[in-house]
Amino acid sequence: MILSGSSEGVSNPLDPLLGARYPHSLQISVFADEGPQMSETIENLFQEGRSFPPPEALSRDANASAEIYQKAAADPQGFWVEEAKQLLWSRPWDQVLDDSKAPFYRWFVGGTLNVTESCLDRHVATNPDRIAFHWEGEAGDSRSLSYQQLLSEVCRCANGLKQMGVAKGDTVAIYMGMVPEIVVAMLACARIGAAHSVIFGGFSADSLRDRIDDCACKAVITQDGSWRRGSVVPLKKNVDDSLVGQQTVKSVLVLKRAGNEVDWQQDRDHWWHDVIPQQDDTCCAEVMDSEDLLFILYTSGSTGKPKGIVHTCGGYLTGVSSTFRNVFDIKQDDLFWCTADCGWITGHSYIVYGPLANNATSLIYEGTPDHPEQDRWWKLIEKYRVSILYTAPTAIRTFMKWGESLPAGCDLTSLRLLGSVGEPINPEAWMWYHEHIGQQRCPIVDTWWQTETGSIMITPLPGVTTTKPGSAATAYPGIDARVVDDEGTEVQRGHGGILVIDSPWPSMLRGIHGDPERYREVYWSRYDGIYFPGDGCKVDEDGYLWLLGRVDDVMLVSGHNISTTEVESALVDHPAVAEAAVVGRTDERTGQAIAAFVVLRSSVKGHDDLIGELRNHVATKIGPIAKPSSIVFTPDLPKTRSGKIMRRLLKDISEQRKLGDVTTLANADIVDAIRDGVSGSSSEDQ
Ligand code: PRX
Repeated sequence: MILSGSSEGVSNPLDPLLGARYPHSLQISVFADEGPQMSETIENLFQEGRSFPPPEALSRDANASAEIYQKAAADPQGFWVEEAKQLLWSRPWDQVLDDSKAPFYRWFVGGTLNVTESCLDRHVATNPDRIAFHWEGEAGDSRSLSYQQLLSEVCRCANGLKQMGVAKGDTVAIYMGMVPEIVVAMLACARIGAAHSVIFGGFSADSLRDRIDDCACKAVITQDGSWRRGSVVPLKKNVDDSLVGQQTVKSVLVLKRAGNEVDWQQDRDHWWHDVIPQQDDTCCAEVMDSEDLLFILYTSGSTGKPKGIVHTCGGYLTGVSSTFRNVFDIKQDDLFWCTADCGWITGHSYIVYGPLANNATSLIYEGTPDHPEQDRWWKLIEKYRVSILYTAPTAIRTFMKWGESLPAGCDLTSLRLLGSVGEPINPEAWMWYHEHIGQQRCPIVDTWWQTETGSIMITPLPGVTTTKPGSAATAYPGIDARVVDDEGTEVQRGHGGILVIDSPWPSMLRGIHGDPERYREVYWSRYDGIYFPGDGCKVDEDGYLWLLGRVDDVMLVSGHNISTTEVESALVDHPAVAEAAVVGRTDERTGQAIAAFVVLRSSVKGHDDLIGELRNHVATKIGPIAKPSSIVFTPDLPKTRSGKIMRRLLKDISEQRKLGDVTTLANADIVDAIRDGVSGSSSEDQ
């Protein structure tokens, strides 16, 4: 279903590709003061006027108050030193930051620690019975692990790994579902100084093999199978397939979880229940240099080959521990729930290392939000009295689609703080989260960061910041973020550009495994010596940052650089829309034309009049230049396995290119439905 309409008022009668601006763009408020500008890196179109001051009670008692910004600005390294001192070090560092070989920075040089002692031993010494994790399986089975029990399990697993020949300096692949043992396995590696490489359980045998080979893993930890919507994902089989002819993996440790049949290779495979329970429950923590490898985590680059992002011990733990304490304002009686999977950086930093370093109690849930019904999350919040929820915009927009009666049917009064991560959160999704989940009571922290940054970089602080729906607010204390134009000059307030991070920070990536050149090129060459995350951003009159999506996705329409995020947010602003993705489709007249894909809320039916209404809505919200030239209604959008919209694929569909491999999609079956929608569509300018 589809269609239509030109971007009236924006086409250049002389030459649409020259980048000239037209009188019509003056209708857009930000240009009104200064007149047209010829070289805006990214336009600032979408205006959002709502704001929410922090609740007084939260401010009064918050872990971070406004002074934290002043202190950190006056002495950023001094700030990080204070944060690092909150951890347990076996030897203090000699030097805070070594920048002599930039961009290969080193933090807390000469210091030694084992991260598991900060995460476990020191808490066990004071309060062994405090719960580290409540865990709920997809089928409703549950377990709770105290800090003491977790430490004992970690030590047993660490001893088991040693028995299998794993030693300091080795790398272990972890390919599991969300069971407590995935956390145990990660920490067991850290305990003995082996790096973990967690590979998301939804990846195929081929993806697993690439990642195992890239860092020459010595062992794999997996399960027979994991539960997903009541069926079994055959993890062990995928491991078997991935290891055919593979040379470096000597052992596979297999947790029995789903009870499915598995093949067995006697000399290589070991059941967890045969090996781990009989191990000693103490294991001396390996002394690690601050800069020793803690883990490798693969993230897909914009071009094919995944990058093995390298994180080390001291700086990483400093960053995640500090941000967890201040951004989530964690208190002794909080129950924190980060809904991510440990296969992603969010799970590493805010399920495992950040919460444990702060002696927090967290919830882990094994399954999907719609099993057995679409209210599973809200039931979990009610059952466990979750007080802080940290999730992704893609989930929030899905819940918008499913309707507000589901959360309304559960008791969510335990919630006091909400978080968002992974993609720009559209203002309307923010408002929905605020109203229907936070019940207008809970501040929302929209946290911008990356696998590469290790910890949160741009975020409100819940007791300090007045939030604005759709803005991640300002840089975390000690972080030096700016928005620049193509030449690297800082843009003025009210303008869009490219986000950069000016100074190194403790939890930054230390490189791409095995590829120092790619590390320099991807992150440090766009602006010489300054970190380039690859995201567009605008800075408003108050200095708030608004993330605009990946710069690769920016559309060039009649000479205007328009961010996908802003047009998507204007579409989601319409009450009929739950989710939207837009891409720039090649267009003879305007250079690129905006093609929109829209998921409607479940109570709404798509029809041609609605298309016209949505186009007009975008024009009203941000100006005629941003009117989609075509709109396709679709039941879902193609997403990566971490829930990000795959705009590149939508672009290929829009330009009727042959699609490459779509098996990396979380929902590959949606592609045909969208393609049918596109071929059945027309647009006014076709
Ligand atoms: O584009 C930004 C987007 O996600 C990218 C990082 O993805 P990944 O390494 O998978 O890590 C996701 C979890 C930290 C960023 O470059 N992104 C992440 N958080 C936000 C965001 N975009 C806008 N707002 C956010 N809060």
